[in-house]
Amino acid sequence: MGSVRTWSTVVAVGIVNLFGVVPAGYAAGDAAAGKARVGICKVCHGLDGNSPANSYWERYTTQDFQNMAKGQAKYSRNPVWPKLAGQNEIYLAKQLLNYKTGVRTDHNLWEFAGELSKKDMEDIAAYFAAQKPKSEPVSTDPAAKLGEELFKKGKPGMKPCMKCHGLSGHGNEKVARIAGQHVAYIQKQIWAFKLAERKTTLEMPPVVEKLTETEIKAVAEYVTGLE
Ligand code: HEC
Ligand code: HEC
Repeated sequence: MGSVRTWSTVVAVGIVNLFGVVPAGYAAGDAAAGKARVGICKVCHGLDGNSPANSYWERYTTQDFQNMAKGQAKYSRNPVWPKLAGQNEIYLAKQLLNYKTGVRTDHNLWEFAGELSKKDMEDIAAYFAAQKPKSEPVSTDPAAKLGEELFKKGKPGMKPCMKCHGLSGHGNEKVARIAGQHVAYIQKQIWAFKLAERKTTLEMPPVVEKLTETEIKAVAEYVTGLE
């Protein structure tokens, strides 16, 4: 009897997921068609969406991340490119639209992609979402411990990251996957939210408002090692 109940619960949850979360007007993309469109994207993001780390990023300071978040052109030769593999499909499609409409402005060489149609964006999103994400090694930086605290427990007046991003940092349709993401990219985005340069969500600003420079580095060190 117990197991029957469990199954019907699973089925009910499945139906809610299928019909409840996909926003109206969003058609699931075609990953195979998407693969055919990523010829240029792979230069920075990798064919499988696992962009390699760049040793240049280790030299960047907080001041650099702040300048970069403000879109200063001098960083365009060594930009901080994110991993897209395993990123949530709907989140990815939304970001592509954000760049196209100018809500997010800091995309390197975006002129190549500004011509993508809605269908192209959905297909590309489906393709990268289906790739297997590769995490970075667990950080040996002692600061990662503080990062774990902030991620799991938050601090007074600040919700823990896991409340929205999940215990493993995988996010969901509306919340970005941050597990395994590059330390430099995470720092840059947190500064972009903190400096109100990235205005894609109302959820991140109250969180990052509370984070200090040390805490931003610490939480990035922790998240990069999550699988
Ligand atoms: C020359 C390098 C380069 C190329 C080529 C490139 N990108 Fe990017 N991409 C970047 C950088 C740098 C960022 C981070 C920008 C920012 O901070 O907003 C980025 C960010 C993104 C994001 C946001 C990821 C997130 O987690 O929010 C998506 C989605 C994306 N790119 C998709 C694409 C697609 C699709 C293509 C091909 C049509 C492409 N990119 C081509 C450098 C590149
Ligand atoms: C109240 C919910 C919430 C909390 C708490 C939260 N986030 Fe987020 N976060 C979001 C949402 C929603 C997005 C996606 C924003 C968008 O659509 O552009 C996001 C995006 C991000 C991004 C950008 C990812 C990318 O690929 O560009 C980073 C980095 C991030 N969050 C880190 C954190 C960290 C670190 C914490 C904890 C200190 C945290 N978040 C806490 C909701 C939250």
